[in-house]
Amino acid sequence: MSVLRSLLFVPGDSERKQAKGLTTDADALILDLEDSVAPERLLAARAMVYEFLQGERERARQRLWVRVNALSSGRLFEDLAAVLPGRPAGIVLPKVDAYEDIERVARSLEALEAGQGLLVGSTPLLVIATETPAGLLALPGYARAAAAHTSSARRLTGLTWGMEDLSAAVGARVKFDAAGMLRPTFQLARTGCLLAAAAIGVAAIDGVYTEFRNAEGLRRESDEARGDGFTGKLAIHPDQIPVINEVFTPTEAEVQWAHRVVRAFQGAAGAGVTQLDGQMIDRPHWLQAQRILASVNDTRSRP
Ligand code: COA
Ligand code: MG
Repeated sequence: MSVLRSLLFVPGDSERKQAKGLTTDADALILDLEDSVAPERLLAARAMVYEFLQGERERARQRLWVRVNALSSGRLFEDLAAVLPGRPAGIVLPKVDAYEDIERVARSLEALEAGQGLLVGSTPLLVIATETPAGLLALPGYARAAAAHTSSARRLTGLTWGMEDLSAAVGARVKFDAAGMLRPTFQLARTGCLLAAAAIGVAAIDGVYTEFRNAEGLRRESDEARGDGFTGKLAIHPDQIPVINEVFTPTEAEVQWAHRVVRAFQGAAGAGVTQLDGQMIDRPHWLQAQRILASVNDTRSRP
């Protein structure tokens, strides 16, 4: 599965936004059946998302994902049954409380895939892991749980985090302090998501930046996320896509550095440590270089 830099949420009941989404350079659209759809519109939205997948899946240059409702909503299984025949690129799972939720959804997907003649295991999952307090507290156990449940773990392609629902759940009235730093609860969520993703070996995708007219703020937040190890970011408005794509594309200098690291090791005759420009480089640098080169396989570098 190739790197997803930008993933644009598109409300599942809006034909206009679906059409607009197709004109963007987002790597993925996330057709939403959850929070951006009013409950009385859910039936219509399921049908629209299915139609859209049927019509556009082969043509769209974006990968078409679907966000379903949470397991706790009682609507998740009908959402899956409605959209899976449209063969979405993957499923975004919100408000996950524990790794067992992923396991349960994976088992339902197995049954649906088998029933529809799809390859069992072919629908990946992107998990929003910090929307509930329980979900956030469960993150330290993810790596162990994933190791114990390899079939659900194979579907897991990324973790992302959210703070809107989390702040409502804990009753937090502020998310940032006066200097613009995240309050500790939300720092924990962000870092917990990043570390759990790294521990399992899946992508860490940064959450949404809701001030969609503030491109400078979006760029700052995206830069920080990439600097910390996130490989992409969720978006809620088409204007956010160019900024996110730019920030999460490796620079030409980074790509050059990665090639030089690889060459330095090739010249080091199997040694685990060598040097580049007077700096010691060993396995962590090699891994970093591999990461950069893997991400250029699907995206061009930027100057
Ligand atoms: N996907 C696709 N198209 C979108 C879009 C989105 N997420 N957000 C806006 N657009 C379209 C608008 O329909 C409009 O298209 P038009 O030129 O055909 O009229 C154009 O982009 C400009 O939109 P703008 O007028 O700036 O914003 P808006 O007031 O129409 O919408 C939001 C603002 C926040 C309601 C809208 O961006 C949105 O629905 N975002 C997604 C929300 C969501 O999915 N939330 C759940 C995840 S947190
Ligand atoms: Mg939400």
